Amino acid sequence: MTSQKILVLPGDGIGREIVAEAMKVLEWVGSRPGVSLLIEEGLIGGSAYDATGGPLPEETVIRAKKADAVLLGAVGGPKWDRLDFSLRPERGLLGIRKALDLYCNLRPAQVFLPLIDASPLKREVVEGIDIMVVRELSSGIYFGEPRGVETLPDGRRRGFNTLVYTTDEIERVARRAFEMARRRTGKLCSVDKANVLESTALWREVVSELGARDYADVALSHMYVDNAAMQLLRNPRQFDCIVTTNMFGDILSDEASMLTGSIGMLASASLGDDNALYEPIHGSAPDIAGKGIANPLATLLSVAMMLRHSLNCPVEADLIERAVNRVLGQGYRTADIMQPGAQQVGTVAMGDAVMRALHGLE
Ligand code: IPM
Ligand code: MG
Repeated sequence: MTSQKILVLPGDGIGREIVAEAMKVLEWVGSRPGVSLLIEEGLIGGSAYDATGGPLPEETVIRAKKADAVLLGAVGGPKWDRLDFSLRPERGLLGIRKALDLYCNLRPAQVFLPLIDASPLKREVVEGIDIMVVRELSSGIYFGEPRGVETLPDGRRRGFNTLVYTTDEIERVARRAFEMARRRTGKLCSVDKANVLESTALWREVVSELGARDYADVALSHMYVDNAAMQLLRNPRQFDCIVTTNMFGDILSDEASMLTGSIGMLASASLGDDNALYEPIHGSAPDIAGKGIANPLATLLSVAMMLRHSLNCPVEADLIERAVNRVLGQGYRTADIMQPGAQQVGTVAMGDAVMRALHGLE
């Protein structure tokens, strides 16, 4: 049996704490019959900067390319906020997305029934939501050139970024989204600002053409991003699969996460044609780092996505998701999702509860 290689990049802040819980689950997966995992650890973000002088060591990229999948904790923190943009921890994350050409970011927002009252929205609005945001991840305004801050002759400073998309960049992520929509309920909503921004008018054109040509069975709709932000709160159940640009996807996926009650619960997959990276969508939460109270569940659910999308272990993926639901049903809560009458636990105790549930379900 050949081993599947996983590169684990804990990163900064709560990254190390939550990834430690994921390691327990990965060890369990590796002990299952027919599965063999080889797990390595690498550097990214502020901790990589501290150790090597840059947020994305070349060695991390090389090892990530060779791995079957990458698991990332989180990057960033106030300690590195004053660094030049090119050295900031976030550049490490953006750099690895670019280096591995991870153009398709899947961000599912599902309500966990035991947590439904943790959502700031009414139960009747969020009950049953199951949204998949497909975010373009390796282009758009995040990477467009020219970019920078310059000083004008009169002394004013001018900051600028460029929102740019080529037809092939739009088409490849749209294709993934159509395929995803087909596997779900056959509905896809493409979000843009085609009334104002030329590059997203092109987005709309390319998505429409691809839909008409290859995905006539998928019901495609289009929405402007401002309206989409509003509709997500007004009637989130109208959405199934959403496909959108890098920055709109960044914003809408955070918004969608709050429908479910906690950003601490949501996983993500970043896929290219040859590589894949999995990470919780929340950040490094420097305010609670080192306190042992961070919610590890989004990371465990990211492991489940990894098992399903990259490692061909759908049974183990299901078991992890069921175990997470079980511990929530049992009343275990980390601080971010704490509810009256529930039992508050820290990061390690939550990970242990999931491990017990896994052994019980096996
Ligand atoms: C995310 C984050 C990142 C992004 C930051 C940390 C660079 O917000 O993954 O959503 O903007 O993509
Ligand atoms: Mg974000």
